[in-house]
Amino acid sequence: MTGSPNRPKSSEPVLILGGGLIGLAIAHQLARRGRCVQVLSRRRSEAAGFVAAGMLAPHAEGLSGNLLALAQTSLERIPAWVAQIEADSALACGLRPCGIVVPFRSSAERDAYPTAAWGEPLGRAALEREIAGIGPSWRAGLLFSQDGQIDNRRQLMRALERACVALGVGFQEGAEVLAIECGGGGALEAIRLRTAAGEQQRLPCAEAVLACGAWSAQLLPQLPVFPLKGQMLSLQAPRQALKRVIFGPGTYLVPRADGLLVVGATSEPEAGFSEGLTPAGQRQLQEGLEALLPEAAGWPPMERWWGFRPCTPDQGPLLGASGIRGLWLATGHHRNGVLLAAITAELVAGVICGSAKAEDRALLEPWGWGRFQS
Ligand code: GLY
Repeated sequence: MTGSPNRPKSSEPVLILGGGLIGLAIAHQLARRGRCVQVLSRRRSEAAGFVAAGMLAPHAEGLSGNLLALAQTSLERIPAWVAQIEADSALACGLRPCGIVVPFRSSAERDAYPTAAWGEPLGRAALEREIAGIGPSWRAGLLFSQDGQIDNRRQLMRALERACVALGVGFQEGAEVLAIECGGGGALEAIRLRTAAGEQQRLPCAEAVLACGAWSAQLLPQLPVFPLKGQMLSLQAPRQALKRVIFGPGTYLVPRADGLLVVGATSEPEAGFSEGLTPAGQRQLQEGLEALLPEAAGWPPMERWWGFRPCTPDQGPLLGASGIRGLWLATGHHRNGVLLAAITAELVAGVICGSAKAEDRALLEPWGWGRFQS
């Protein structure tokens, strides 16, 4: 991972291609470091940051290796990152360090879980104390009290946008990036886009960040990033009905502070970019919900939605240099975009500004594009 040898002066804008959570988080960190930033966003509602459930779950997700290390570092930094966003925006982000319970059908299954060493083992009685009303088939559990959630859809995304605006970040909403142009020497020269008014524009630029989520390979077709569709729904639970997130196999329940219960999520690799809800996907969520918490079947449904996770072959993100000098990658966060937004923004902004510490450069090192090119 190297920085740009001809680093532009800090007055030259960095273009952020993608106005989702990762793009906004990087824009915010660059603006905090004194850079001039412009965000190009096609349609903010499609951003995975608006779709996700907002779990902060490196342990509950059972991550391992370098991805667990990256995710644990992000989890540690999230409180300070959220404090910056809240200070810059004057809006709350809805961070809840509520802990996550992973239920299992047997203690043997529990003890074999990849992150079992980081959790508190629970038997059936302790599981019932943590999750009143949990379904009868769950005999054991792991409590990860260090994991939690953030209200990404209703709070974090809005707060980040407001923080960016407060720091002078420019936005073009409805702007579809059509192409990335590079010059003879392999350096970024310009971005071509179609504005919301339908005009084609060429924006000369020396630095940009590709943060287009599941759509990233539409701009750089060689990038190994593909969509992984997820369907979700929400219910209105009685307030305080559930104090912790429940992370079951194939279904998880995320209780917001006001009682809204977010239920996720299908994983549909064969769906590509096909939009919409499906009966099979919604049935899967309903069955998962009823198996985890039977009484929730009677709670009123609120919303149903879907989105596309940006996935890579090894399920790790693509971060850092792109092969085009001046174009940086921040995509491919798979199931962990909300969790990894804090560390991604710090690492990528630090590298662009040439201020990343050695420990951060070491964290970034495993996530380069080169790992898929040998
Ligand atoms: N982070 C959970 C999911 O992507 O469904």
